[in-house]
Amino acid sequence: MTAHSLPWWHTASVYQVYPRSFFDGNNDGLGDLVGVNQKLDYLKDLGVDAIWLSPFYPSPQHDSGYDVSDPRDVDPMFGTLADAQKLIDSAHAHSLRIMVDLVPNHMSIEHSWFREALTSPPGSPARARFHFVDSVDDNPPNNWVSIFGGPAWTRTTNPDGSPGQWYLHIFDSSQPDVNWTNPEVAADWITTLKFWLDMGVDGFRVDVALGLAKDMTYADLPDPIGLTQALRFDLDNSSPEAEQKRLLVENSGFMDRDELQDIYATWRTVLNSYPGDRMAVSEAWVPAHRAKNYVSPTSLHQIFGFDFLVVPWNAAIMKDRITNAIAGVAAVNAPPTWALSNHDSPRVATRLGGGVTGLARARALAVVAHALPGSIYVFQGEELGLENADMPDSARQDPVYFRTNGEQKGRDGARVPMPWSGQEPPYGFTQSAEPTWLPQPQGWESFTVAAEQGDPLSTLNLYRTLLHDRTALHGNLEFVDSGDISVMVFRRGDGVHVAVNTGDQDYSVADKFPTCDVILSSDLQPGGKNETLPPDCAIWFRC
Ligand code: BGC
Repeated sequence: MTAHSLPWWHTASVYQVYPRSFFDGNNDGLGDLVGVNQKLDYLKDLGVDAIWLSPFYPSPQHDSGYDVSDPRDVDPMFGTLADAQKLIDSAHAHSLRIMVDLVPNHMSIEHSWFREALTSPPGSPARARFHFVDSVDDNPPNNWVSIFGGPAWTRTTNPDGSPGQWYLHIFDSSQPDVNWTNPEVAADWITTLKFWLDMGVDGFRVDVALGLAKDMTYADLPDPIGLTQALRFDLDNSSPEAEQKRLLVENSGFMDRDELQDIYATWRTVLNSYPGDRMAVSEAWVPAHRAKNYVSPTSLHQIFGFDFLVVPWNAAIMKDRITNAIAGVAAVNAPPTWALSNHDSPRVATRLGGGVTGLARARALAVVAHALPGSIYVFQGEELGLENADMPDSARQDPVYFRTNGEQKGRDGARVPMPWSGQEPPYGFTQSAEPTWLPQPQGWESFTVAAEQGDPLSTLNLYRTLLHDRTALHGNLEFVDSGDISVMVFRRGDGVHVAVNTGDQDYSVADKFPTCDVILSSDLQPGGKNETLPPDCAIWFRC
């Protein structure tokens, strides 16, 4: 297949919208689907191919919508099903694809199935849709631990007030895990897939794709805390220790089990039965060689490449991660994917040091990532170079903060409403006078869309250039010896080179590549011919 005949998702750039923080279309203080619709011109102009919407389904919002009480409806806080249909249709009219988030590992405690289970006896069909298990000597059924911290089991109370069975939740206690060995569960998800496919969505992001299958003997794990830490959303999860822990997920009690392949094979059949290259991307923090449980021509289409969410600022390690990521998915015939940030991870500019240095590195990493083969996911606000917002603990909402007794601050800092215009909060996000659901910081006036649109050297304009120009890059990636351990250089098949300098000395591009022309640069200085590549900078060049 030539690049032109590949399905769209092989090379797509996908923009992640976190609906509650994107744009408030009805001025009630919260982002909504009407608000996304109003910003389609912005997204089209930015140059993305598709939009992934984080959950907008009915939910009590104990985990910002990842606790779903009806996966086939829209929460009134985000609008109506008619608004969802309008958004899908008008995105298509803009030649933008729409992907929605599916949360199949767990439900909300407010889902009708869970309410029914709580009032039904042990052993009943209603309980068989979840993991309800008896006590062991008055203790939880096993030693599994929640990824959000604390125990993975919550005990129910019998109608007579006595302690009852326990239910499993690998996240918050408001998110009971469903039992995927139950055919009724599997069939209901097929109904959900078809519901959204019939409405016209082009793809799905599959939340916690690594969790659906469980060890149904509920055996103890040798290192339950290590296992869940591998998936926690920590600032320092690029440490070698975290790397080691990530290896623990392989085929373990409730993660990355081989039975997943059978589940996704049935989904693929449904997706294939619709016209137009419908696709699914799996969220699974697994080592590259485990990609086989998620992607193949007979299961899902993509797996998120999370290497750039955690890669240290080190050219040699970066090279290693790129090599592994590409090889891992090539083994299952899938294209690689890249992401610098998402709603679960710290803003990339913060992670890479914050301030001027963090922003310079974030821009440089974007210049690298947009030149890689495959597809790229951009989290809203990343294109503005936003940092994590600081906030008082009293403003925090993330269950991670509460379940770890404040030991981990959680993910709220990356989820603060987008700054669109103006000099102070709410920066054009809403016309409502109420405070936004998470407080925006002072000092974002130079990071608003309006401010950055007018500045040719802004991060927004860098992203716009990258998103438009990446479509011209083709062919395989080959590393080129830079002669400097702190400088990574690679070349795409069509001759475009990319260099990034993670060291603290200038690198002379001219010495090594005497006939090169710089095409674009992450630096705040305009590019030129045969330039020096300063520290914390990346360029595309042609020789
Ligand atoms: C989502 C998180 C969510 C968790 C539980 C994740 O992987 O991306 O935001 O808290 O799943 O649904």
